[in-house]
Amino acid sequence: MTKKINLSEEDKLIFGDAAAFLSRKIDEGIVNLEKEDVIEFIDMINEMYKVDLKEEIKTNENISYLLNELFKLGNEEAIVQIDELLYEETDKKKKEEKSEVVAFAGDSICTVSIDQIPGVGEKTAEKLRDAGYHDLMALATAPVSFLVDECGLGEATARKIIQEARGKLNMGFGTAMDLLKKREAVGYITTCSKALDDLLGGKGVETQSITEAAASFGSGKTQLGLQLAVNVTMPKERGGLDGIAVYIDNENTFRPERIVQIAKALKIDAKSALENIKVARAYSSDHQMLLVEKIPDLIEKEKLNVKLIIIDSLTGLFRAEYMGRGHLADRQQKLNKHLHDLQRMADRYNLAIFVTNQVMSRPDVFFGNPEAAIGGNIVAHASTFRMIFRKSRGDKRVAKLIDSPNLPDGEAVFRVCEEGIRD
Ligand SMILES: Nc1ncnc2c1ncn2[C@@H]1O[C@H](COP(=O)(O)OP(=O)(O)OP(=O)(O)O)[C@@H](O)[C@H]1O
Ligand SMILES: [Mg+2]
Repeated sequence: MTKKINLSEEDKLIFGDAAAFLSRKIDEGIVNLEKEDVIEFIDMINEMYKVDLKEEIKTNENISYLLNELFKLGNEEAIVQIDELLYEETDKKKKEEKSEVVAFAGDSICTVSIDQIPGVGEKTAEKLRDAGYHDLMALATAPVSFLVDECGLGEATARKIIQEARGKLNMGFGTAMDLLKKREAVGYITTCSKALDDLLGGKGVETQSITEAAASFGSGKTQLGLQLAVNVTMPKERGGLDGIAVYIDNENTFRPERIVQIAKALKIDAKSALENIKVARAYSSDHQMLLVEKIPDLIEKEKLNVKLIIIDSLTGLFRAEYMGRGHLADRQQKLNKHLHDLQRMADRYNLAIFVTNQVMSRPDVFFGNPEAAIGGNIVAHASTFRMIFRKSRGDKRVAKLIDSPNLPDGEAVFRVCEEGIRD
């Protein structure tokens, strides 16, 4: 059976070689690509990145489109492999780029209002704000398709707005000194376990970063989230940030009684702890994204000192809604935006992000870890600190840190007990 990828002429020009390569493989009736094939494909994509770096967003959209087209052909196994490996292989390159991203995401440029973009009238500005685009940086780094889908703008308008935002931002390089200054503002929230704090660099969970706990059920992910929510309300001397926690609960496992228990164990006034934790239940992945987009309002309009955002779980709803491989590309694209929103907020408001993630068994994975965290490399890439928990004897848990930008990989043992998280 011969099937052809249905590409427009423009698409063919953009990723002609890679697509032709894949469609040839599919024509040959190969269901599972060999690793070499996938790597060859990835090399082509990388080559395209180099040639077309300025058009990266466009290219990304097209990659996603290409993957979708392949899904339609039913070659799903191959696509999952490509999707995973694509990010794996480009991970190193992306990590190198990450420092630049932080550099141009410096605070000063983030505070420019979107009203200052030529061609953005009041109505458009309102639409943009409603969709969570509060500043030039958000616009400058948004994919065209998001502005079209979320704000109902025409494609040409969206493209123009993004271009203008980029022009205004003067996106370039900050000095290492600027970065160092930004790093000096980093705040820390203790986990109440010295071992776990040490694993994370000494003082616990950092602001300006995303910390992820990935594990199977009952491993203490939610318990750590609840503990951090209480801890952030403590003063700095006690390992808090005198702040407010925003808890997005989509598993229905947030329990105020547990907050009371944890607060009492720390001799904190339970009532004030409860008052300093804002809880919202998300019912769909869109709702979850919307809730996150509304957090700047809490900070700017309601003047709340939000210092921690917890999402428990980050991927659960996405996983439930985008069942089946046919939706993988869409799901990953949305998750990617969601994580970008979160990282931007962490940078802009100097706050910490803690997300939980389920681990699923992947009998279909041919190479790499068969127990993979959901969201694949998109999530792995976005989280600054990724911890994998596993159960040990009794109330003991082992946390393993992987892939941190400045810390060695390592392990820590902690306990989940009545008081909360402890050594
Ligand atoms: N009040 C408590 N006293 C002592 N231990 C508790 C208490 N509440 C919860 N735990 C411990 O925490 C465990 C549950 O951990 P948690 O809810 O954080 O799991 P999880 O990793 O979030 O799992 P899931 O994937 O199902 O959400 C329980 O099995 C229990 O061992
Ligand atoms: Mg949980």
